[in-house]
Formats: sequence, structure tokens, C-alpha cells
Amino acid sequence: MTASPAIAAQVSPITDYLSGLLERFAALEHGTVATYIPELARADPTDFGICLVTLDGALYEVGDTRVDFTIQSMSKPLTYGLALERLGQKAVRARVGVEPSGDPFNEISLEPSSGAPVNPMINAGAIACAGMVAALDDDPLELVLDAYSRYAGRRLETDEAVYRSESETGHRNRAIAHLLSSFHVLDVPADDAVDLYFRQCAVAVDCRDLALIAGTLANGGVNPVTRERAVGEGVVREVLSVMTTCGMYDAAGDWLISVGLPAKSGVSGGVFAVLPGRLGIGVYSPALDDKGNSVRGVAVCSALSNDLALHLVRPGERIAPPVRAQHEIGALHSKRGRSADQRAAIRAASSRTAIFELQGELGFMAAEAVSRRIVEAQPQPELVVVDLRRLSRVDRGGVDFLQALADSLWATGGALVVSGPAAELGLELPLSVTRFDNLDAALEWCEDELLQRVSHPPAPTEIDLAEHELFAELEPAELERLVPELGLLAVDPGEIVVRAGDPAAELFLVTRGSLSVLAPGTGPQGRRLSTVSAGMTFGELAYVDRGFRIADVYADTDVECRTLPYAVLDRLAATEPRLHGKLLHGLAKVVLTTLQQVNAEVAHLTG
Ligand code: DON
Repeated sequence: MTASPAIAAQVSPITDYLSGLLERFAALEHGTVATYIPELARADPTDFGICLVTLDGALYEVGDTRVDFTIQSMSKPLTYGLALERLGQKAVRARVGVEPSGDPFNEISLEPSSGAPVNPMINAGAIACAGMVAALDDDPLELVLDAYSRYAGRRLETDEAVYRSESETGHRNRAIAHLLSSFHVLDVPADDAVDLYFRQCAVAVDCRDLALIAGTLANGGVNPVTRERAVGEGVVREVLSVMTTCGMYDAAGDWLISVGLPAKSGVSGGVFAVLPGRLGIGVYSPALDDKGNSVRGVAVCSALSNDLALHLVRPGERIAPPVRAQHEIGALHSKRGRSADQRAAIRAASSRTAIFELQGELGFMAAEAVSRRIVEAQPQPELVVVDLRRLSRVDRGGVDFLQALADSLWATGGALVVSGPAAELGLELPLSVTRFDNLDAALEWCEDELLQRVSHPPAPTEIDLAEHELFAELEPAELERLVPELGLLAVDPGEIVVRAGDPAAELFLVTRGSLSVLAPGTGPQGRRLSTVSAGMTFGELAYVDRGFRIADVYADTDVECRTLPYAVLDRLAATEPRLHGKLLHGLAKVVLTTLQQVNAEVAHLTG
């Protein structure tokens, strides 16, 4: 599980900015290294590292980011998360509260009635959590190391010297553990609980690990580099909430105002801060202020928060509107070719449809915006497509409202479908909402459904040659003269008919079945450029420039085509100019229809 973070570019404005912070705050030389654990006194107060990790795994680091130190109190949220994960909220809450104490980390803050520690970030609460984990397994340290390692994305171990040093001198923590025992908060002997606590505090990390721990919490419990889950999303929410109110002890209020990020510090001089859904930050510099927090760590987090506007509370912040665009099906067709009368029928009934392109978050605001537009529209659309492609995040509330909207449309005879990569977004759709992989497929559904609703007769699967679009202007006698010149091609479903790159020698006139023109090399299930069916033409573009095929064409069904060799067309130019002119005019119309579709698509993309 070794992390191999995507190394961010060395020449980067982010790295430059972080280097600037390093330079600026290296001038802060006050504060003292913790000495109450003798081994910690060996830390070099000039060590200074800053590391930042994004949720897509980019890691920026400047300064002493590879220097080992012990995790100390920064272990507390992780063990709290482990206890929550293993025992559930109810069992943990019975032993540890979640109220801020406003006291220093080693204050004996217990509920007067129950003796339960007031929160898991103070020592008493952290020892209670260690006690819960110690009761879980014969080798509880392994549970702890395994969990922490998943956060960091590499195997972590305890620093034996620091552990022994604290174990030999940590009388106050031993006393707290025995006090907890007297209140029956511990299920294991007090010494076992405090021993695990000392060991977890002595886990060796570096500044990068801190950023990755923060990044994992920011990412809902999944390490942004290894993509391994360290802790469940529900637990992360509780852990971050407690960090927000209690993570910085008696400096928590000040921290919340000046930095505004859930964070945890340790007496070794590390601090990590979390911007949920966005970023993890780790800072290391061992000199501490009078509250036991790294002087430079606090300064860097505060500067980062102010300079980069990371504060959780951003009054007046306006997010991008959730509905990026709204269309009717008449302006936004699928890639299935339609006959002229089908196109006319779709255009005429277009106001019965609405296609919403969402962006940003699918949450309550998006659901509200979509439902308001539907309710206020005159007439109200019956067929609704919601395109999720540009979403970056999905909230359960948004999905619930979407389902409610689908249900209410269904109840009045309408339908709502969604299109886009639901799995990538972690979107679990209720079964009653139909999902298409892409917008094109959803638009085709919308057109088919609309044609059915206006009772438009289904397109014939087979036509007579005389009804083909290319021959619309031909006299029967002209067609009769042409037919012997045409080739015949019959293919089975799934067969490739035309391959990109092949030299082109003929036009294809579909008389039965349908074929899909797909982006080159994307395979039979590849990206669709168009679908042509009986009565339509393909291969016309290569005729114009005498070039090579530019796409792959597969038969969707059992297919029959007539083929018109380019050589025949060329010969007609000399022998039958009138017939040749009519065929060219037919071809121009085919190209025009394609162009109109492309124009509509470009308008949609740039609109
Ligand atoms: O409980 C102790 O004394 C330490 N092992 C951990 C304290 C700590 O890091 C407090 N945080 N700022």
C-alpha cells in the first residue's frame, strides 16, 4: 500500500507560493519545543515543512517534509474514527461526549455525573477511545497501525524511543486512565488503555503523511493517492465535526475564526487541517506556542486560509447556477438520423420536452431549480432529460428530490430520465429513475417517446428504392436506367461495413435495417456519430473529397444497401447530365441535413 503520490510539477505557482510561506514564517522564531516527554526535546526547532494534497492526488511539498516526528495528539481523531467504525456511534457516545471543553489538552475534563470525558480530542477522551480499541483485539496496536497506515498510504510504525520516554514519564495520563477506570469508562485495565494511547501517540510520520491523513478525511475517508478507503464516510463526518469544535483545545474558537478548517495539532509540532471535499494540509515545525500548538503551523494555516479563501464559512459566496442550460428536443437531437417527416413531428411537439444540463453539485439547489422550471413552464414538459455529465458531486438530498420529481411526472403521465456517468459520481439511483450512459442515448429515447405520443407512424424498416432520399427527384424512367448500375450489399447484425482509413469508392443507400457510424477505432460499442436507417445515405463525405473513410460503420440489424459507385456518378456527368444533377442535388440535401444537425450541436456546445 505504498503511496506513490502523483508528483506535482516542480515548476508550479503552488509550490512557489508554499515556498513563499516557508520563507515568510521561518522568521517566526519564538515558541519552544515540548520537553515534558524527554525524547521530544531532541527535535530541531528550525525544521519546517509544508505539504498540500488535492483530492485527485497531486501533492505539493516544500521544506522539511521528509523529517520523521511522532504523531502525538494528531492520532486522536484517527483512533476516535476507528472506535466509531468498530463499535458504532451509540456505544462510543456512551463513553465519550462531543462537547468542546475549552480546556488544555491534558485537563481532566469529565462529565460530573457519569465521569465520561467531554470529548475525544482531550487526553481523557482519547484514552477512553484507546481503551475501547484495546478491548477489540489481542493485538490492538496492529489495528491502530493498520488504520493509520491506510490514511497515510504507507506502512507506519511506532517510534520505540518516544513511546518508552512517554511511558516512563506520563504520570498524569496514567492517573487519568485510572480515574476513568474508577468511573467504569474503560473495559480494559487502565494500564492497557494508556499503554495503547502512548503507543499511538508515538507513531512516526512525516509532513507528507499529515497532508495525506488530512486529504483522506477531506476525501470522505478514501486516500486520494492510493484510493484505498481508510474509514467510512459517516464516521468522517463525525470526526471532522469534533475536530472543528475541539481539535485545537483552548484555542478552538480562535482557530475557527482565523483559519476556519477542522484541524488537529500535536505537541511534536505537527498540525493537519482539512478542507472537506477539496484539500488536505500538513505543516510541521516543532516550536510550540503557550497552548501547545506549532507557532509556524498556526501561522501557515491561517495564511493559507486567508490567501486562498479556504475558510469553511464564506459569507456571500455564490456557487455556479446548477442548471447550465435548458433545451427542447427540437434544438438538440440525438445522433439517430430521422426522416424529414419525423423531424417535423419532433419539432412541432418539442415544447413537451425539457433537457436540463446540470453542473456543479446535484443537491437540493439543483433539484429545486429543475422542479421550479418544470412547474413554471407553460405548457409543462412531459418528457424530461437530466444530463448529469458536468456534475462534480452528488448529495443524497438531490437524488431524493430527483426521484420525487420523476415520481410526480410519472403520476401525471410524464417521464424523467437521467444521462451521464452515475457510477463515477457514486450516484446510486433509485430503480424508478431510468439512466442512460450518455446524453445521445437519452435524447434518442426522448425522440422515440415523443413520436409515439404524437402517434407518428414508426419508421419503416425496409423501403423500396424509389422511396430513397437520394432518388426523390428522379423520374421512374431515370431510376430504371440507374438500377442496373447499382451494387447490392447484405450484412448481418454486428458486421463492420466500412472501416476508417479505407479508400472510398461508393455511396451506400440503405434499403433495409440500420447502421451506426462510430468514431474511428472505438469498436462496435464505440462513440456514435450517427445512425442511418432505411431510406438514408452514408459514405457521401468521401465522395466529395475523393478521400478515405473517416469513421467505422457497423450494422445494427440485418441490413441491405444498394451501392452507387463513384465511377458511375462520374460517368453520368458526361452521359446523363440531368440525372447526374438530380443525384448531386439529392446528395447536397443529405449533406445539408448533416450540417444542420452539426450546427445545432455546436450552438448547444458553445451556448
Ligand atoms: O498526551 C500527551 O501528553 C501526548 N502524548 C500527546 C499530547 C498532544 O500532542 C497534545 N496536543 N497538542
